[in-house]
Amino acid sequence: IRRGFSSSAVRNVVIKQVTIIGGGQMGAGIAQVAASTGHSVTLVDTSDDILKKSIKTIEGSLKRVVKKKFADKPEAGEEFIQKVLKNVSTSTDVGSAVQGSDLVLEAIVENLKIKQDLFSRLDKLAPAHTIFASNTSSLPISDISSATNRLDRFGGLHFFNPVPMMKLVEDTPGFIVNRLFVPYLYEAIRLYERGHGSKEDIDIAMKLGVGYPMGPFELSDYIGLDTIKFIMDGWREMDPDNTLFAPSELMDKLVAEGKLGKKTGEGFYKYK
Ligand code: NAI
Repeated sequence: IRRGFSSSAVRNVVIKQVTIIGGGQMGAGIAQVAASTGHSVTLVDTSDDILKKSIKTIEGSLKRVVKKKFADKPEAGEEFIQKVLKNVSTSTDVGSAVQGSDLVLEAIVENLKIKQDLFSRLDKLAPAHTIFASNTSSLPISDISSATNRLDRFGGLHFFNPVPMMKLVEDTPGFIVNRLFVPYLYEAIRLYERGHGSKEDIDIAMKLGVGYPMGPFELSDYIGLDTIKFIMDGWREMDPDNTLFAPSELMDKLVAEGKLGKKTGEGFYKYK
């Protein structure tokens, strides 16, 4: 990627080394895409166990990609997987992981204070030329970046889930997709809470009626109920009177019980 920054000393930075912080579903997906496009990636999380899982996820996803892309050339497919995996290393130490990094992309929990704390630390640890970006799905980039002294090297890079399949990246303020999409998910939950339909019926209705590949309950489980709730809670704090941002008792209860969707084996539905 080549970019010019008129207000910055960093002009035409070539991005080769990428550090991704947070090896969850988004971080792992972003690491896969970055490594597949020839970047050298360091994936950071809080424990080696989590990082092992992230690498397994990447491997599984690459195998699916290769099955399609290299259908009649399995050997070339295996070579591609090994090449991509070689581009990914893991670390639990952000300080060393950001050394030599051209871009640090954060994909940790959707909480302003936690993201600010991380970036404030990173600001002191990372080289001066390093560009920071957040994969936040709802928080204003200006709020997150205010914890740093590199406002001219800070942006939003909002990927979509599943990262290796979705071709959209948003970097404008306002987050068009989520601003429309999250209130839609909540309205589906409220519809169910009011007894207007079962989860299954609402999911089927949206799939057949609007042509969405997944219904709102399936999709909420896929995204992660904690992430959706964090988004809504954050928006409600900023705009408490907006009825689109009203809470849902059921959502609050499921998150409090740790039923976060597919990633924990249960959310609105149960998974094996
Ligand atoms: P996740 O819960 O799957 O993964 C978050 C990861 O960050 C976990 O592995 C956790 O251990 C790690 N983590 C937390 N604090 C950390 C820290 N201080 N240092 C290093 N690692 C840390 O969450 P997910 O779904 O990957 O979301 C991550 C970010 O991406 C959030 O900001 C979310 O809003 C955003 N996002 C999520 C989408 C989705 O569909 N789930 C879509 C687009 C953006």
